[in-house]
Amino acid sequence: MTRSSAIPQPTGSASQTLTFDGPAVAAALDAALAAEPDLTARLRLIADYIPGRVAFSTSLGIEDQAVFAAIATADLPFDVFTLDTGRHFPQTLETLEATESRYGRRIRITFPDAQEVETLVARDGIMGFRHAIENRKACCDIRKVRPLNKALAGASGWITGLRRDQSAGRAHVPFAAWDGAQGLIKLNPIADWSLETLERFVEDYSVPVNPLHAQGFPSIGCQPCTRAIRPGEDIRAGRWWWENEDGKECGLHNRPKKDAAA
Ligand code: ADX
Ligand code: SF4
Repeated sequence: MTRSSAIPQPTGSASQTLTFDGPAVAAALDAALAAEPDLTARLRLIADYIPGRVAFSTSLGIEDQAVFAAIATADLPFDVFTLDTGRHFPQTLETLEATESRYGRRIRITFPDAQEVETLVARDGIMGFRHAIENRKACCDIRKVRPLNKALAGASGWITGLRRDQSAGRAHVPFAAWDGAQGLIKLNPIADWSLETLERFVEDYSVPVNPLHAQGFPSIGCQPCTRAIRPGEDIRAGRWWWENEDGKECGLHNRPKKDAAA
């Protein structure tokens, strides 16, 4: 592939630490990804233009299954990991197993710090996240956000399966943006995909998906914090359903405004 002169190139040799102008590369990649409709070609652009380790965080949800299928089929060298919170549905773990078998590729699993979980549960109880929003945020912090930060440490890029039509809060998700909080480029290669496009892709390529999707769970997180949605409800209505719509994120993606990368 010929590198576009519009995308700033990294400096430094293989034996040195690569330095690159993250915000400039992010802006150029955002435009390049928008101009390229094919998912595999988008992922190749990411692999080609971001130096160093690029991580892909998969929740094993339908979006991430599509992205993983493209990554595995093209044998792209991304560091694929999932955050096992310890509270997943069994179907999610079955999906993980089925995906590894289908594509012959291991997915790295990260776990929360055992001591932190013990301290949290001793303080709030095993279902403490139901009693106060602060408890819920503390649980998400220990079981998801801290392990995510650890998994992303030292990475230059972070691929997610965020889509703009998942919720009003995600309506402006870019394809690529500098994430000042993590110090890396955050990449959302299916940001512009509709649910129909996603479902067609999964169907066309026989991508294994969590069986819960067919049972009214379009968005799947931890078992105690996810319910099936009713006809007409938003895709993410089943996540932390007892909280009001405005703040329904777990901290993985809602960065402070100055660092916002969606
Ligand atoms: S969440 O913030 O509400 O939990 P959601 O389930 O919509 O997020 O997933 C959005 C993106 O966050 C996924 O495409 C994935 O990149 C990342 N993500 C969410 N949960 C996990 C997880 N358990 N492990 C790894 N990545 C995750
Ligand atoms: Fe804890 Fe629920 Fe957050 Fe999972 S989604 S980490 S169980 S509060």
